[in-house]
Amino acid sequence: MADESKDADLLGRMPELKDSEFREISALVHDKFGIKLPDQKKILVQGRLQGFLKKNSIKTFSEYIRKVRADKTDHELVELVNRITTNHTYFFRESDHFGFFSKTVLPEITDRQASRGVRDIRVWCAGCSSGEEPYALVMLMMEALGSGYAGWNAGVLATDISAKVLAMAKRGVYERDQVDKVPPPIRAKYFKPSGDGGCEVCPTVKKEVTFRSLNLMNAVFPFKKPFQVIFCRNVMIYFDSPTKLALVRRYAKHLEPGGYLFIGHSESLLHEATEFEYVCPAVYRKKA
Ligand SMILES: C[S@@+](CC[C@H](N)C(=O)[O-])C[C@H]1O[C@@H](n2cnc3c(N)ncnc32)[C@H](O)[C@@H]1O
Repeated sequence: MADESKDADLLGRMPELKDSEFREISALVHDKFGIKLPDQKKILVQGRLQGFLKKNSIKTFSEYIRKVRADKTDHELVELVNRITTNHTYFFRESDHFGFFSKTVLPEITDRQASRGVRDIRVWCAGCSSGEEPYALVMLMMEALGSGYAGWNAGVLATDISAKVLAMAKRGVYERDQVDKVPPPIRAKYFKPSGDGGCEVCPTVKKEVTFRSLNLMNAVFPFKKPFQVIFCRNVMIYFDSPTKLALVRRYAKHLEPGGYLFIGHSESLLHEATEFEYVCPAVYRKKA
């Protein structure tokens, strides 16, 4: 039998993804991350991985799959997922959510907490990518609470599966054009120039975000107290319906009654997610 990988290599061709290999990759990412890869995604998956295989002298996709399976730490699998999904995000993306958070959600939380005699604001940003979303939420909380912020136990828990984006998020340094969408007064107050011509999030804001690695497919989340707000925007687009429903149910468990769930504007909650009621586009509330 002809050695196809040798032929491809001699001709300098990129390895081709066979249907059976695509199905194996689909099963791997679905089992571990709930991500669905319909058949139409085969060309995209091939295109996103070919360069990596070539650069690392991996001659066939089967060889690559063996390497991914052999890594018991799951690092290779997470890297695979990172190559085929997008971490695209930017400051104040889908900006009406941030207006709603400041003008409606925050005053509601602070009033309710004041009447209970507590000063806790617990926000979780799930699928935070490189940090723009959680940092913006902290900046808005600081704006809303002003000098009183220090008297609150506030802050944001920000989680993602990708070690690469989490490292970028923790660093908190962005190119100038990445902060273009930040309202100028906020930009002036909460960023400082970084040594390399970019903009760095101020330390006062950075220390209010806790970045952690977390796979949203985990059956149990390690949180003791419920959140008042969960942002999970543009993450569930990759998940199939059963995976999405199970995740939304876990979110309901980790939200206070009346707590808010923000999802991406191109997403919607399944009808079966009866724990929630619709509030406004891409914003839902856990029924009290
Ligand atoms: C497109 S970004 C969205 C970033 C931000 N929430 C926004 O709306 O701009 C999607 C993020 O979800 C993360 N992600 C995808 N599947 C995940 C999973 N199973 N567990 C945790 N994070 C996941 C990806 O690594 C990526 O950073």
